[in-house]
Amino acid sequence: MTPMTPIIADIRFPFSLMNAAGALSTTRAELLAQARSESGAVVTKSITPTSFLDPGAQCGLENPGTDYYVEVIPELRQWGKPVIASVAGLTIEEFVQVAQTLTQAGTDLIEINLNDPHVHTHVHPFQSVERLDEVVSAFRRQIAAPLAIKLPATVPLTLSDVVHTLVRNDIPVVMCHNTGTNGDPSQAQAVLEAAAGKLDVIGVGGVSTGAQALAILQRGVKAIQIGSAVVKEGVGVFARLKHELGELIGTDTTKLAS
Ligand SMILES: Cc1cc2nc3c(=O)[nH]c(=O)nc-3n(C[C@H](O)[C@H](O)[C@H](O)COP(=O)(O)O)c2cc1C
Repeated sequence: MTPMTPIIADIRFPFSLMNAAGALSTTRAELLAQARSESGAVVTKSITPTSFLDPGAQCGLENPGTDYYVEVIPELRQWGKPVIASVAGLTIEEFVQVAQTLTQAGTDLIEINLNDPHVHTHVHPFQSVERLDEVVSAFRRQIAAPLAIKLPATVPLTLSDVVHTLVRNDIPVVMCHNTGTNGDPSQAQAVLEAAAGKLDVIGVGGVSTGAQALAILQRGVKAIQIGSAVVKEGVGVFARLKHELGELIGTDTTKLAS
């Protein structure tokens, strides 16, 4: 049976669906609404050391900076579900500084945003396997919280090399895109196969119905992050999806803790 309350990096999630970074998760009010909703976790907007402005960008790094979230994270934790801080920076040191500060503030899991174009231009994490190893090992050595790496939709290395680098560096979780290109298996599916159980995969993107979520979860993805549907529908989307999943699997998912 598909687990709807997964354990990921030794953390129990009360539901397998959660918001994706940046989807109604920038301000305190938005984050508190996520915490009160049926979402299985609260995932913050990507956080940089200081307030970041990126006029014109759709999914960039605009956020009020680390200090703002240090205040909010203890409040979010009171709702009893995992708090995931998405972290970004233009250097390895910036990532580490933000992640260490947010770990001290009580974050359960740090999501390293290697998805953003700004991060690619400045940090070059996928320039080579050696560079990825250098970047990831620096994070692992210096950040105490469990780490998850969010991959970009297209990675200029083989997914097998990426998986082995993450496993070698004791990274327990990877966020992968649920969609594939040109009819190929999705990135999440390819990573699941390459990881052979050594990494927990959280799928990101392309989900707005319970049927879509169930199909992905049944293939072994542990949890799903939802972006556009949260923005379009608000945090009430999680109650709808929980109900739809319950109908599909014949369980009263409203009885799951949230
Ligand atoms: C308004 C908005 C802001 C976003 N901000 C971030 C962000 O700060 N960090 C990040 O890693 N992804 C960000 N994303 C990307 C989402 O986390 C997610 O990967 C993407 O929307 C795909 O999911 P979807 O198909 O469900 O929309 C953002 C997406 C949206 C719609």
